[in-house]
Amino acid sequence: MPDEERGPMRTQVAIIGGGPSGLLLSQILHQAGVDSVVLERRSREHVESRIRAGVLEQVSVDMLDRAGVGARMHAEGLEHDGFSIVYDGVPMRIDMRSLTDGAHVMVYGQTELTRDLNDTIVGRGGNLIFEAEDVALHDIEGRPYVIWRKDGAEHRLDCDFIAGCDGYHGASRASIPAAVRREYEKVYPFGWLGVLADVPPCDEELIYSNHARGFALASMRSQTRSRYYIQCPLDEHLEDWPDEKLWDELAIRLGPQAAARMTRGPALEKSIAPLRSFVAEPMRHGRLFLAGDAAHIVPPTGAKGLNLAASDIHYLSEGLIAYYRSGATGGLDSYSGKALARVWKAERFSWYLTGLTHRFPDAAPIERKLQIAELDYIRCSSAAQRAVAENYVGLPL
Ligand code: APR
Ligand code: PHB
Repeated sequence: MPDEERGPMRTQVAIIGGGPSGLLLSQILHQAGVDSVVLERRSREHVESRIRAGVLEQVSVDMLDRAGVGARMHAEGLEHDGFSIVYDGVPMRIDMRSLTDGAHVMVYGQTELTRDLNDTIVGRGGNLIFEAEDVALHDIEGRPYVIWRKDGAEHRLDCDFIAGCDGYHGASRASIPAAVRREYEKVYPFGWLGVLADVPPCDEELIYSNHARGFALASMRSQTRSRYYIQCPLDEHLEDWPDEKLWDELAIRLGPQAAARMTRGPALEKSIAPLRSFVAEPMRHGRLFLAGDAAHIVPPTGAKGLNLAASDIHYLSEGLIAYYRSGATGGLDSYSGKALARVWKAERFSWYLTGLTHRFPDAAPIERKLQIAELDYIRCSSAAQRAVAENYVGLPL
């Protein structure tokens, strides 16, 4: 029977966007017996082929475990106890485990995590609608509903609440009236050129490098797949970076120790991404709750994007579940404030680490001297190292 004849669909929580935020929310609500429908604009294949970062804080790992989607992450992910910052060609190791109460991070691609969440939700027959076009949010201050088109037909979903998990370019944030929305933004005057290659990583841990020619990062997806980045101008063209030139540049910027252990190979993928700090406040309006990239963007230097999506979903799912258990609205009322308090600290850390490690085109020579002085200070001070480590492993929820 066509939808129009059945009448509108109904659910408790309409979730816009099937990225990590939306999928994780759907899964956690399901565990608590709360009904949701996820509306995703793209196809499943498209969503699962997007290459994103891949460093999970311990609190994110614990959440994924509780959500019942951690098995493959534990089998295939890599636990890291530390990372290095190279400057003047010499690495400084930040030993996260000894500088914190034994915390570490998990290196596991967001692409893989998205697949795990999709498998789990689709596997249990969850309500996950792909290729939902022209999604529009209505009456978010009253009795909310969502309209979209699929296969040429219009559909309507009535709900109690809407979770706007549709990323930076989604429709949800724009549904909050401009008069109550405040946006804070900083766009950086450079991007990251990323390359993925099926070669073993040059080190067991990640290497962030401050070089006079610009920032570089050596990361990985597995023991046989590496992910590297270099800072580049925003108007850079990928055609100007053939593989060999890129490997040569990485070897220079990452320093002699990493260069000696770097295996070169053909690029599986290359892309350029801009760097931005962005926060929209508040994260709730009426019955609409924003989460993840829909509400905030961090520059990737601290690998916080996915982790902030997870912490938003932690607070939001807590509020929704409490509401459906007892009618209590306290968790929903405090959602925006709690989420933003953690978001701003991660924004600060990502901005700080970006400023510490990148070459700013208009910077006066004194600014590079000050960067190096700060890095020297961190090298000499366990208090300073601890401040870096505790932010990198993730602040408590
Ligand atoms: N309608 C429905 N879905 C939409 C719409 C729309 N109008 N606009 C965007 N989407 C979908 C996108 O196709 C995407 O799958 O919403 C999803 C948003 O996913 P992400 O952008 O991955 O955002 P989020 O789930 O909050 O995850 C944050 O992703 O971008 C990274 O670094 C970021 O790691 C962080 C994580
Ligand atoms: C990545 O592996 O893609 C990655 C790792 C750490 C970062 C950013 C990206 O800070």
